[in-house]
Amino acid sequence: LFLSLMSLIWLMLLFSAHLSECVPEKPKRSALNQLTRTLLRKYDCGVRPVHNWTSATTVSIDLILQSVLDVDGKTQSITISIWYRQIWTDEFLVWDPEEFDGINEISLSSDAIWIPDVIVSEFVDGGKSPPIPYVYVNSSGSVKNYRPMQVVLACSLEMYAFPFDKQNCSLTFRSWLHSVKEIDLALWRSAEAIADDKREFMNDGEWELLSIPSHYWQIHQDNTDYAHIQFNVLIRRRPLLYVVGLLIPSIFLMLVDVISFYLPPDSGIRIAFKISILLGYTVFRVNMTDELPATAVRTSLIGFCCRHLYCVCAQSILSCCLFYYELEPSLEGDLLSLSEFQDVPSGPEWLLQELVSLRLALSQEASEASAQADWLALCSRLDCFLFRLYLFVLALYAGTLLLLWASWSFA
Ligand SMILES: *[C@@H]1O[C@H](CO)[C@@H](O)[C@H](O)[C@H]1NC(C)=O
Ligand SMILES: *[C@@H]1O[C@H](CO)[C@@H](O)[C@H](O)[C@H]1NC(C)=O
Ligand SMILES: *[C@@H]1O[C@H](CO)[C@@H](O)[C@H](O)[C@H]1NC(C)=O
Repeated sequence: LFLSLMSLIWLMLLFSAHLSECVPEKPKRSALNQLTRTLLRKYDCGVRPVHNWTSATTVSIDLILQSVLDVDGKTQSITISIWYRQIWTDEFLVWDPEEFDGINEISLSSDAIWIPDVIVSEFVDGGKSPPIPYVYVNSSGSVKNYRPMQVVLACSLEMYAFPFDKQNCSLTFRSWLHSVKEIDLALWRSAEAIADDKREFMNDGEWELLSIPSHYWQIHQDNTDYAHIQFNVLIRRRPLLYVVGLLIPSIFLMLVDVISFYLPPDSGIRIAFKISILLGYTVFRVNMTDELPATAVRTSLIGFCCRHLYCVCAQSILSCCLFYYELEPSLEGDLLSLSEFQDVPSGPEWLLQELVSLRLALSQEASEASAQADWLALCSRLDCFLFRLYLFVLALYAGTLLLLWASWSFA
């Protein structure tokens, strides 16, 4: 019995040895896999990663402006694309590289670990940002979360100086919920380095980046302090396109309009000329409404000036018309008086009536002539006034434009 038992055991041993030869050995986990499992085994991604809850997590942030995509005066918003980086220390993601094949840095799924809720407080639209599913962690627990973002920001835009305008839009990063005792913010690089960083900026578009000054401050709200970091994006427009396409044509139109004041006011030529200029203004304004950034509160100088000169032009046409039609009725009156002569009574009364009507007509003509002279004087005075007003507005416009240009170029 003992022998048979021994032989059975031997058989089983042999069989199991045979089996283990056939079934390939389970592959050992890679060091990367093992490290990830070790780190995330007891990790709770909903808990702020500090050992002592009284210590704050400091999130260092960094920003590189890549391009200005759109500046919209109507909705008072600006669309920019930035490269955003945030770095913080996770006290639970610490390991000894010696134990794990010398691995010093690994990437982890960003869903698996705690991420601070730092957002831009001026956003009006999340925009389109490609999702980056990973963060980078090194052995001392420093987590790097880099992502490109396209954000639509609310920004109060100043369009008065268009096309010589500069804009100042702020981009404020803050934790939406956590007070400064839990999440504090800091700048990763020095403020000067961020302000002058134009390496990645696409500098061929309409907007030129001046600088991005930044500062840290805390806001007191509901008995708690919140940390903020504000970046002011300072940009200025490149005006060449608008100078060629809008300013030069409008100045040309205004000069032609000035010349038209030297045409004789009582001729029909001037009216025709003025009307064609008015047409020119109209076409110009219709063209411009698409290009001019309009805001509800303030319009740009060009828009304002064009509207003003349009009004003056219309008024001067009106005064011309008055001139013109004041000269016309005398002719019509003659025709009327001719037709009155057709039914004349015969006899001696005729002579008397004729005399009386002659006297009446004479006195009427005299008073009409004096009235006409008054009217003409008034018209020419109005014309003179409009001309001066026109010149004044034009000079003011040119002066303001030059000033704006000067202040633009010395930014
Ligand atoms: C947490 O930190 C505070 C101050 O740094 C210290 O007074 C407190 O004892 C710490 N608590 C624990 C549980 O270590
Ligand atoms: C981890 O990264 C931080 C920040 O980049 C750095 O200061 C630290 O020295 C790194 N630690 C190791 C062990 O490389
Ligand atoms: C930009 O605006 C901020 C306030 O929003 C202001 O503090 C800052 O001085 C402005 N910068 C310039 C250059 O005007």
